[in-house]
Amino acid sequence: MHHFRYVRGKLYCEGVSVESLIKKHGSPLYVYSQKTLTEHFSKLDQALAPLDHMICYAMKANSNLAVMRTLANLGSGFDVVSEGELRRVIAAGGNPKKCVFAGVGKTEQEIEFALRKGIYSFNVESEPELIRINKVAARLKKIAPVAVRVNPNVDAGTHAKITTGTYENKFGIQFEQVEDVYARASKLKNIWLRGIQMHIGSQLTDVKPFESAVKKILPLVQKLTAKYKFEFFSIGGGLGIVYKPALASGSAEWWKTTDAKDILTPSLYAERLVPQLKALGLKILIEPGRFIAGNAGILVTRVEYVKQTGKKNFVIVDAAMNDLIRPAFYDSYHEIVPLNQKNGATVSSDVVGPICESGDTFCKDRPLPRVGEGDYLALLSAGAYGFVMASNYNSRGTVAEVLVNGNKAAVVRARQPVQEIWKTEKIPAWL
Ligand code: LLP
Repeated sequence: MHHFRYVRGKLYCEGVSVESLIKKHGSPLYVYSQKTLTEHFSKLDQALAPLDHMICYAMKANSNLAVMRTLANLGSGFDVVSEGELRRVIAAGGNPKKCVFAGVGKTEQEIEFALRKGIYSFNVESEPELIRINKVAARLKKIAPVAVRVNPNVDAGTHAKITTGTYENKFGIQFEQVEDVYARASKLKNIWLRGIQMHIGSQLTDVKPFESAVKKILPLVQKLTAKYKFEFFSIGGGLGIVYKPALASGSAEWWKTTDAKDILTPSLYAERLVPQLKALGLKILIEPGRFIAGNAGILVTRVEYVKQTGKKNFVIVDAAMNDLIRPAFYDSYHEIVPLNQKNGATVSSDVVGPICESGDTFCKDRPLPRVGEGDYLALLSAGAYGFVMASNYNSRGTVAEVLVNGNKAAVVRARQPVQEIWKTEKIPAWL
């Protein structure tokens, strides 16, 4: 579900034509739909209504301040993974008391900052980390709320680089060790065993791995809750989205298929998990990132050249892997549609960026409408893990971001001037 669609042959984001944004703000450009963000949050919130729950948006997916403010206004908490992210929550007007802090490598400084801001819980990923949190809390004369992240050893069946819940991964504490870790943690004076957490992976389009993981971990949660009076259980994030609609690229009604039946909807997720979770009587936390932001954003890019090599039809665009790394990094699929709908025959095309690497490819041998220099394409479902993973590779400045709300649009990040890229670099005196 999202609010990007053709109106009289032109791509719109809500009530604004994307072409008008490009004319004003240039290319490449990330465009976000506030209504889509809001609806995703609300759908999930409603599906979980039978539970005492808190949504902690995994801001790593898209941490633009305007996106964050949109969600903070809806009452969202945040899943943070660094001091920088926690500072961003504060800058966006979010509440640190609704934040959980995950990640395997929290530094002392980060722990101290989070303790001073009074976060809801640390999601602890190892015993040495627990000991470190206790030490910092003792120094600050504070009690640190923690939850152990359980690695349930369930294969989520997603891309190897985004699977997190098996013993091959660096995350969490092995299921079999969790009870002993809690027993030892209960002896640490500045630790409050507030809850327990799990996260099995990202982009799960099937409810079964969630069901298996919850089923596996539930008896342990009950046992430990009885012992330590837990307040919450966090089931992590991972809800997948539709990247590849059932209808062909650019076909008149492609967006309608983003609600494809085989996708993990909040209602299906809730139908299978809520009864099990309700029985626990705990507050339930969920940490969705991609589900909220993924389909709420597109990356718009200009066609610079079309190059036919005999074997291939290369569509060379002005966006590159430094702007959206997902296809290069995970071989991931992003739907590509022209801003102006085209009805003629399709051409098998490779859409590539200007970066000097073969991996700088957004799609290969994909039937796309015939486009030429000066046309614009939109890479869909780029709202999560898009801009946030951008780099300055090839000394390319990061692109601008725009947020649309109905008929209004605002630049929520300016395009980075290239001089800024080397602003903090220095040439030593001997050169
Ligand atoms: N909670 C924890 C502990 C996580 O590690 C993650 C994501 C989430 C929640 C949010 O997961 P989501 O609901 O967004 O699936 N860059 C990759 C995805 C990396 C996910 C890392 N952890 C991609 O572009 O597919």
